Amino acid sequence: MSMKTLTPVFVFTTLVLLPLTATTTTIQDLLRSRGLPVGIFPDNVKSYRLNRDGRLEVRLESSCMAEFDGRVYFDRVVTANLSYGGLVGLEGLSQEELFLWLPVRCIIANDPSPGIILFDIGVAHNQLSQSLFEVPPSCMPQEVMIEKFDRKEGFDFQK
Ligand SMILES: *[C@@H]1O[C@H](CO)[C@@H](O)[C@H](O)[C@H]1NC(C)=O
Repeated sequence: MSMKTLTPVFVFTTLVLLPLTATTTTIQDLLRSRGLPVGIFPDNVKSYRLNRDGRLEVRLESSCMAEFDGRVYFDRVVTANLSYGGLVGLEGLSQEELFLWLPVRCIIANDPSPGIILFDIGVAHNQLSQSLFEVPPSCMPQEVMIEKFDRKEGFDFQK
């Protein structure tokens, strides 16, 4: 093929197909491209926006609870600075720790070793296995999650 026939095809691909594929990039694609596991955000992501300064804003259908190792709570809007292998300055995600809900400040991949996902909650660093983040967790209304855990663990939960 000569350059003469190649160029229009290339131009067509760049101008027409690239914007199309860009608009269908999912949050999972984005996370993967930044060296993060695809299952950090739950299964009810409605939309997301990545600002030029690296600030990521993820909108969920609703606030909800999900489970990795313990329970986490996602606000309807979660923001963080996205960098390669990390979400820092997180806002809108909390983790239950000894019956307290503590904000997760950072999520760092492969720290301190490969296959470990670090949740920085200020008072503690939780090291979780990457295998917990292979698929987006299902995110349930708070009431449903509380009931599920109560059954499983037999607590008397004060509502
Ligand atoms: C997140 O990014 C903003 C804008 O670049 C910056 O001002 C802020 O300090 C960053 N926060 C953290 C925790 O890195």
